[in-house]
Amino acid sequence: MRLKGKRILVTGGASGIGLSSVERCLEEGASVVIADLAGSEGAHEAKELDGRHQGRCLFIPVDVTSTEEVDQMVAKTVEELGGLDGVFNNAGIGGICPVEDYADEDFLRIIDINLSGVFRVARAAIRQMYKQGSGSIVNCASILGVFGQSNTAAYTAAKGGVVNMTRTLAIEGAKKGVRVNSIGPGYIDTPLIAGLDEELKQSLIDLHPMGRLGKPEEIANAFLFLVSDEASFVTGANLLVDGGFTAGKS
Ligand SMILES: NC(=O)c1ccc[n+]([C@@H]2O[C@H](COP(=O)([O-])OP(=O)(O)OC[C@H]3O[C@@H](n4cnc5c(N)ncnc54)[C@H](O)[C@@H]3O)[C@@H](O)[C@H]2O)c1
Repeated sequence: MRLKGKRILVTGGASGIGLSSVERCLEEGASVVIADLAGSEGAHEAKELDGRHQGRCLFIPVDVTSTEEVDQMVAKTVEELGGLDGVFNNAGIGGICPVEDYADEDFLRIIDINLSGVFRVARAAIRQMYKQGSGSIVNCASILGVFGQSNTAAYTAAKGGVVNMTRTLAIEGAKKGVRVNSIGPGYIDTPLIAGLDEELKQSLIDLHPMGRLGKPEEIANAFLFLVSDEASFVTGANLLVDGGFTAGKS
């Protein structure tokens, strides 16, 4: 049990990479909060997982664009679990649009969720973790945090911001017992990309030297390592989990 007794919060925990991470943390002995939109599957998933894992899973509704809701989410987690040892700052949305057509509101919406949302959650968690003198935060970035791709101006701006903000938070937290890292997934088979047409999906698969999409549990396993004490000397890192995407072309 690699996370026995750990108290972990996963934003965007109702679906895809987040849900898979919640499941892996429960299997490794942690108590886990699924934090996701009120209208998501979070309440349903938490009830089912709570039943299978000795009452160690609960749902807290949150919209990461609201500072008030994020602060309440962390306060409620601490009230329910007695503290906060780990966070997967994973809630996010996609967005595809050529730059010349990008509307302000669409651009700012992606930044608000994928970058400012990560900041709000990290800030609230760090305040608690500084009080404890310990904690580990993992921010979900992307290969598009270190690579450009056409039609993704907002997404690449947000994810690039997450990668570099992670380094700053890591430096600030380093002497206070708080580690902060990010994960850069390649394209992963989740509902986020399920809606893409087959031709586009195949072109994305072809970008990975391994010739396939990643599985949510392959990101969950990377999260598990970074959030655990096994990564006790790892901070400020961006762990790319991408089937060779960023290694170059085959
Ligand atoms: N799937 C991929 O190919 C891929 C690749 C790289 C990075 N990522 C990143 O991984 C993370 C998870 O993506 P996924 O593929 O599992 O997607 P997903 O759509 O399956 O899950 C995202 C979750 O975030 C939640 N969410 C969205 N907006 C929210 C908000 N304002 N407040 C709270 N929760 C909100 C959704 O309800 C959903 O449950 C995202 O940050 C995404 O950018 C995904």
